[in-house]
Amino acid sequence: MFFVKNCKYLIARPLKNLLKIKRWNSQLRVTITKEKIKQGPGLKEFLYDTTDVSIERPYIPYLPENVQWKHKRKIYFDVYGCQMNINDTDIVWSILKNEGFERTENEDEADIFLVMTCAIREGAENKIWHRLDHLRGFKRRRAISKDKNIPVKIGILGCMAERLKEKLIEKEKAVDVVAGPDSYRDLPRLLALTDNGQTAVNVLLSLDETYADVVPVRLNQDSISAFISIMRGCDNMCTYCIVPFTRGRERSRPAASIVDEVKQLRDQGVKELTLLGQNVNSYRDLSQPDARNDTRLAEGFKTVYKAKKGGLRFADLLDQVSAVDPEMRIRFTAAHPKDFPDEVLQVISERANICKLVHLPAQSGSSAVLQRMRRGYSREAYLTLARHIRRTLPGVGLSTDMICGFCGETEEEFQETLTLMDLVGYNVAFLFPYSMREKTTAYRRYKDDVPEEVKKNRHNRMLELYRTRCQLLNKEEIGCVHLVLVEGTNKKTGQIVGRNELYIKVVFNQEDILAEDGGRRQVKPGDYVAVKILAAKSSVLSGQLLYHTSLSEFYREFSWGDRKIARVNC
Ligand code: 5AD
Ligand code: SF4
Repeated sequence: MFFVKNCKYLIARPLKNLLKIKRWNSQLRVTITKEKIKQGPGLKEFLYDTTDVSIERPYIPYLPENVQWKHKRKIYFDVYGCQMNINDTDIVWSILKNEGFERTENEDEADIFLVMTCAIREGAENKIWHRLDHLRGFKRRRAISKDKNIPVKIGILGCMAERLKEKLIEKEKAVDVVAGPDSYRDLPRLLALTDNGQTAVNVLLSLDETYADVVPVRLNQDSISAFISIMRGCDNMCTYCIVPFTRGRERSRPAASIVDEVKQLRDQGVKELTLLGQNVNSYRDLSQPDARNDTRLAEGFKTVYKAKKGGLRFADLLDQVSAVDPEMRIRFTAAHPKDFPDEVLQVISERANICKLVHLPAQSGSSAVLQRMRRGYSREAYLTLARHIRRTLPGVGLSTDMICGFCGETEEEFQETLTLMDLVGYNVAFLFPYSMREKTTAYRRYKDDVPEEVKKNRHNRMLELYRTRCQLLNKEEIGCVHLVLVEGTNKKTGQIVGRNELYIKVVFNQEDILAEDGGRRQVKPGDYVAVKILAAKSSVLSGQLLYHTSLSEFYREFSWGDRKIARVNC
């Protein structure tokens, strides 16, 4: 497949007699002079073969290789929003590091601030507006300080950039660069433009950009956990959600590049990996042959878009990724209930290193609300699937996302959300009051008619039920031995902090304990340890450190499922 790189030049080249053409386009803003047109590139330079893996990044003909940067370029990153934004920031950092940019964690040293943004709810955007207020002040102070020859540049990246486009620059005069989720390769050029005092916007969405060839450079190199985006975008068009508009169409990254990255992360000492996608179960590496014939949706589930066919599926990817290192914990998120194939459950059950926690966002417990949300399933179909997962994977944990106060939600409909939460007994839940987003179907079709105070009240009731339910679930763990992956030390209490299989925080005191070689040593980040649970709160367990172990060794001794087989309660 070929991809057109810059239509502006392509259109402008024949217009030789024009002295100066200033074109403003809502997505890309460039000033074109006759001189530039004469020296401009030919047709072939606007096309690159997206299947050619030898091309590291698109050649940008109008950014000379020896571009003279006027200023030292130290970047300060701010990351808001979901795990995918963390991974996207690592991709951005990789691209810019390659171009010779430096990074700083000290605001005073920075001359470029890049803010990775989220647009999912108004609250998320408000936080970013506050940050921009601060950055605007910083920029103003720098402009009158002794360092005034090094102006501060501000770039807005990600979903809010995509949603607001050049309105961001109009509204927030301090912003210099706006780059959407599919234009990070263009950032060196966009930043170079700002050196000449221009503002630069690129919010083009792509059908095939997966950054497969960009090896992300993690901002937090010390972390024992990492994220890998296995796909981008979303085709589901749930009526409340802005994601399909900000992240574009769904596309999967080739499995081979994912597995390569997993190996690199293993070599860097990463012990826990989360595979990310808006809906991992619709993953398809279309460059691979179709190994499965599982395109039919289970009874009670339907989809609004025509599902792609063929290719390597998520179950096979999970199989390949988990085979890289049996000592590396594998997690994945999120799995849309409508696409949950038995093959995925099968792989999870076979591999000790795939965590037995399934994130299955319900969004609501009311069939009527689910229909308005266009989720493609009813309450009953969701509950049947939850039961099926629990039976197939004894001891599995379930997590969810829930929204309260969606358009037209009555008290009775909300009660159904509470009863669903109670029935399923989620180990982890992310609970949100509804926030109307422009462009979505709900914005066009429905009224945001649940008053703010009612949303707030329902949100609190959800939180209360969740906490109470979680505390009960966690109390059942008292006396059990958990495999804990050590993350670090709590600075306030000095206690060691780690996570169990279900991603619940476990805290305990540092001690010299028995190691695999028969000696004794203290624990450090990245160690697997056996911990006996002694006390439980709704979001944290505390326990007694027992001994060092490995993932394979621990599960030879204890079966996660056997201990919990009784908990099939939904
Ligand atoms: N309002 C509130 N929550 C939302 N989510 C998505 N869109 C909205 C919205 N407009 C929630 C969903 C989704 C999670 C990432 O954010 O629960 O699963
Ligand atoms: Fe949004 Fe629905 Fe896609 Fe999730 S599946 S990102 S909620 S549209």
